[in-house]
Amino acid sequence: MAVSIDLRGRLALITGASGELGRVMARTLAQAGADIAVHYHGNAEKAAALVAELQGMGVRSAAFKADVGSLDEVLTMRDAIFAQLGKPDIVVANAVAQIHPWDSVLDESIEDYESQFRSSVLHNVHLAKAFVPAMKERQRGRYIGINTECTMQMHPTQSAYVSGKRGMDGVLRVLAQEVGPDQITVNQVAPGWTISERYRHEGTSGDEAYVAAVPMRRRGSDQEVANAVAFLASDLASFITGCYLPVCGGNVMPRV
Ligand SMILES: NC(=O)c1ccc[n+]([C@@H]2O[C@H](COP(=O)([O-])OP(=O)(O)OC[C@H]3O[C@@H](n4cnc5c(N)ncnc54)[C@H](OP(=O)(O)O)[C@@H]3O)[C@@H](O)[C@H]2O)c1
Repeated sequence: MAVSIDLRGRLALITGASGELGRVMARTLAQAGADIAVHYHGNAEKAAALVAELQGMGVRSAAFKADVGSLDEVLTMRDAIFAQLGKPDIVVANAVAQIHPWDSVLDESIEDYESQFRSSVLHNVHLAKAFVPAMKERQRGRYIGINTECTMQMHPTQSAYVSGKRGMDGVLRVLAQEVGPDQITVNQVAPGWTISERYRHEGTSGDEAYVAAVPMRRRGSDQEVANAVAFLASDLASFITGCYLPVCGGNVMPRV
């Protein structure tokens, strides 16, 4: 029997599916047969185009708008997803509010820290409150948070982003403990600086110093990140939970 990733009959919600990495996760889970709830925030056009593409691949899909920093909006989105597509078996918390350019602790605005707290920490709290109860009822579920290699690097100017992502890590490791008895896995994928559609159009010049420090001497691709998400979403990963999986060519290595 061939080993394969088969997500037919499963529904996946991907937050930030209108973004660079999220849209490739959506296509990849759809290739494995999953129906896809496409979440977006401001880019309705990108979300609609993605939904049409996914439907063309033969899966069910619809777009849902919400600010992930607002519990009310996430609960409204949950009700709309339940009504239109059903209850998600897989939740991928991928959205993030971008705050570029990053600044030093002394100069970064308080609003930037609040934005990262909302879009990384509260985002995951809101998704858990909205979608994990239905997983508990079924005694099955996959929750995957998209983190970043930055949480292990502590580079200057990244404090707002890193504090949000480290807070998210805390929420999700505790959640993994709490819902393990219900056969729900909670894992994180931590990409490095990834080549996505934007870089394929604009080029990658300026990344030489970064690439030279990566053990595999290259940047990863959006597809390589999506492959890790597909694995964790699948039955192949049925006994993996509480995991922080870097997809960064060895640029960070969690210690044992
Ligand atoms: N790209 C990388 O190299 C890289 C590296 C490490 C980690 N990551 C992580 O990977 C994830 C995706 O990154 P990306 O590069 O694909 O980002 P992106 O292209 O900027 O996409 C961000 C997504 O989040 C949504 N969003 C922004 N603010 C929101 C809000 N308040 N409420 C709800 N949704 C909101 C955006 O929706 P709209 O566009 O519809 O407004 C968009 O879909 C993030 O968690 C990021 O930290 C990325």
